[in-house]
Amino acid sequence: MENINLENLKIEPFSIKHIEDVTSIHSKVLDGWSMKGLIGDLANQSTESYVAVYEGRALGFCSFIATEDAELVFICTHPLCRRQGIGEKLLREAIIALPKTVNSIVLEVRSQNEPAIKMYEKMGFVTLGKRKNFYSFPEDDAIVMELIKGGVMNLN
Ligand SMILES: CC(C)(COP(=O)(O)OP(=O)(O)OC[C@H]1O[C@@H](n2cnc3c(N)ncnc32)[C@H](O)[C@@H]1OP(=O)(O)O)[C@@H](O)C(=O)NCCC(=O)NCCS
Repeated sequence: MENINLENLKIEPFSIKHIEDVTSIHSKVLDGWSMKGLIGDLANQSTESYVAVYEGRALGFCSFIATEDAELVFICTHPLCRRQGIGEKLLREAIIALPKTVNSIVLEVRSQNEPAIKMYEKMGFVTLGKRKNFYSFPEDDAIVMELIKGGVMNLN
């Protein structure tokens, strides 16, 4: 476990220079996520992705489909640096950096994913509903959550 000084953690737009670090984090978190998919993200005009960089190394990644109502597609932090505030700082600053036209952020999360649900709730996301058996391998419901930008957002 690496101790992180959050003051030195910088949130910046995802770019090609972060691709190896982010691919490495993804491979620890997700099966079947490829570098090709990430490069596709870079090319996609409606995708907004950000990284949390510490001492020159990306330790967190998040990605949105940013239309008027943005969707948080994915967020992850390095498994050895969890519960130190990286995910929260990344998500807060990324949401602030989203285009001004974005009014709200929606997301789907596995109902068993307590760390993520707690983080979203801490930031002011509210539950809109549930999609029964939305996920497979393993089967799980999806919780649909929303945050109104500039509304009850805990951004301080
Ligand atoms: C969800 C995730 C991004 C959180 O990243 P993190 O850097 O550990 O999060 P933070 O340290 O910023 O935690 C912020 C808050 O989230 C909640 N939280 C985080 N981890 C938690 C855990 N293991 N148990 C309970 N609450 C947790 C807490 O409310 C925490 O605030 P606190 O420490 O003041 O109590 C990380 O666990 C992760 O990458 N998970 C795998 C990928 C994933 O499931 N992504 C979400 C679905 S797309």
